[in-house]
Amino acid sequence: MGKKCCLAVLALLLSLSSPSQAECNLMGTWTNELGSNMTISSVNSVGIFSGVYTTAVSATNNTIVPSPLTGHVQKSDSPTLGFTVSWAFSASTTSWAGQCYQDPEGRKILATMWLLREEAEDSWKGTRVGQDVFFHV
Ligand code: BTN
Repeated sequence: MGKKCCLAVLALLLSLSSPSQAECNLMGTWTNELGSNMTISSVNSVGIFSGVYTTAVSATNNTIVPSPLTGHVQKSDSPTLGFTVSWAFSASTTSWAGQCYQDPEGRKILATMWLLREEAEDSWKGTRVGQDVFFHV
């Protein structure tokens, strides 16, 4: 086997064993500490993703229904990401920013912070802030 061929085989083996895609592939269902669920059904080649979010709680008395989400994820082993849900059952919008990585127990998690904006006459009382940690189901 020639030197070029050996290098090609080596490069192929290295690319197959690369953990970058496998470690934080967002696809699938995630659940957070509140019991909310989100299912990410597509992530495209430039990191734009979409799915459905079903919250376990609401600041309103409206009946909760699944709501659409869209987001962006970087390309790295432990990528940063952001996503937004435009609630189907309320006039509010929530955006999360965070990072996907493995916790010390080896579980894949999304550690995020969120801002929820509701319609309000006075801006100062229209925004809530918090943290969510999502585990891959
Ligand atoms: C609303 O009450 O108007 C919409 C639902 C908001 C649910 C919030 S978003 C941040 C936090 N994380 C969740 O999973 N649910 C709550």
